[in-house]
Amino acid sequence: MTTSIDWATLQEKAKTASLQAYAPYSRFPVGVAILAESGQIYTGCNVENASYGGTTCAERNAIAAAVVAGERKFQALVVYTPQDKLTPPCGICRQVIAEFFTPQSPIASCNHVGALQSWTLGELLPDAFTPMYLSASHKV
Ligand code: THU
Repeated sequence: MTTSIDWATLQEKAKTASLQAYAPYSRFPVGVAILAESGQIYTGCNVENASYGGTTCAERNAIAAAVVAGERKFQALVVYTPQDKLTPPCGICRQVIAEFFTPQSPIASCNHVGALQSWTLGELLPDAFTPMYLSASHKV
């Protein structure tokens, strides 16, 4: 089921998720909300680690939460950061987003004053390496 995109709700949920961010090292909280094709919304925050390299971004944590709930396809993603500069997903997250979203999917960023900027995934990661490049046996 594909539903219309309620951007205000996604922004609100991304902001709420950012309040749970575990970011003692960067002090840079991030929240993400993603809308699945089912109509369900899933959220994630960044979870940092003393090793630094063990840190996971809010985008990947939101996707993991959705995948464990059985979701595989998504309509939209919103990132929230409490700063003036609107933050697009990092490179690793763009690759992970490309696994489950289409090049046309809207990927938006919002902040504490309600500003919103939107890109398509294709703009953020053109010519992405996706499952279609792998053999059929890998497409599970
Ligand atoms: N971060 C995210 O959660 N998403 C991004 O797309 C960019 C970076 C987090 C990782 C780390 O906890 C902090 O922001 C600073 O890089």
